[in-house]
Amino acid sequence: MKVLWFLPTHGDSRYLGTSEGAREVDYDYLRQIAQAADQLGYYGVLTPTGRSCEDPWVVTSSLIGATKNLRFLVAVRPGLHQPALAARMAATFDRLSGGRLLINLVTGGDAAELAGDGVPTSHSERYEASAEFIRIWREIITRSHAGESFDFEGKHLSVKGAKLFYPPLQQPHPPVWFGGSSDAAHDLAAEQVETYLSWGEPPADVRKKFDDVRARAARLGRKVRFGVRLHVIVRETESEAWAAAEKLISRLDDETVARAQASFAKMDSEGQRRMAALHRQGGGRSRAELEISPHLWAGVGLVRGGAGTAIVGNPEQVAAKLREYQDAGADAFVLSGYPHLEEAYRFAELVFPLLPLEHALPESLPGRKLSGPFGEVVANNHIPKQAA
Ligand SMILES: Cc1cc2nc3c(=O)[nH]c(=O)nc-3n(C[C@H](O)[C@H](O)[C@H](O)COP(=O)(O)O)c2cc1C
Repeated sequence: MKVLWFLPTHGDSRYLGTSEGAREVDYDYLRQIAQAADQLGYYGVLTPTGRSCEDPWVVTSSLIGATKNLRFLVAVRPGLHQPALAARMAATFDRLSGGRLLINLVTGGDAAELAGDGVPTSHSERYEASAEFIRIWREIITRSHAGESFDFEGKHLSVKGAKLFYPPLQQPHPPVWFGGSSDAAHDLAAEQVETYLSWGEPPADVRKKFDDVRARAARLGRKVRFGVRLHVIVRETESEAWAAAEKLISRLDDETVARAQASFAKMDSEGQRRMAALHRQGGGRSRAELEISPHLWAGVGLVRGGAGTAIVGNPEQVAAKLREYQDAGADAFVLSGYPHLEEAYRFAELVFPLLPLEHALPESLPGRKLSGPFGEVVANNHIPKQAA
């Protein structure tokens, strides 16, 4: 199992839907989160793309030198630049970071925003353009290892003699991750991506999506890996965790919820429609109305687009829920919690020991051999017997 964290490049919150106690994003804060994730042994961090976020390429490039092992899952939205430039940026990033780049292909689900970016606005055209983009991107990079060029004449994009002189370190190319819940998205995942991501819908629904993508991929002789993107609210006891969830939405007013829901309703994203449907029936804020599957809470989605659910519970309950998703096919998780710095520590310290992680924990990271014991336990010469 791989666990990634999230860089909140649009700002961080203590209470959803208000600026009270909120944190502005600046370089020092993003660096703190990235360094925390790196030291704690997270596999990587996801950065989003969109007009409400800082640019993911600029942010993640600036953090290469501040981190050692952390991978960067960088959102790439077709249409913002040509695939040849995206291939060059990816190769450069991968080389400069020592092979730490992952790509998150983001088709986008807000027609108004995409129109502003100069991207085809119909859902099907947008996916056609995404499929052409990632094909060109992948071919240019893959052929660069052999010094070959690539020609492509598509409906939306074309290149002639496209060539990359400096290949990335990762062979044949940095892995491509991708999320989307429509038919077109499932086809694209089956045909072209390495890891398919779903928002944290209830495990049974996620399983159906994974099964569908797996079956489509199998028909093409391909295999796809799977991941889930959601939030976590973990505390030492279950009651503290639920109290933290309540607190997170305690400053939220009806007007803010209504405004957020109205803006999500304008999107043409199947994934967003499915997220909104998780709490439309009741519309309320009680645990009974928002706990849509045991320990899965839809409260974040009252005001946040995209990832709208959180696993809530004590460490064992949270780990068990992650294993439920693992049983459904997921081997990667992109998690977050508010505020992102403190919760990165809390999650790693309380839950990592309970997970079958395939990546390095802090004690096995280069240069971080922990000698233990440490902390107050050794203050004033009170060294525990086993360490003496
Ligand atoms: C894990 C994950 C991350 C995403 N990140 C972004 C993002 O950074 N920016 C964005 O505009 N859309 C993002 N999306 C939305 C997708 O790009 C896609 O537009 C959306 O799922 C709509 O496609 P659909 O109709 O196939 O569901 C993300 C989706 C997933 C599942």
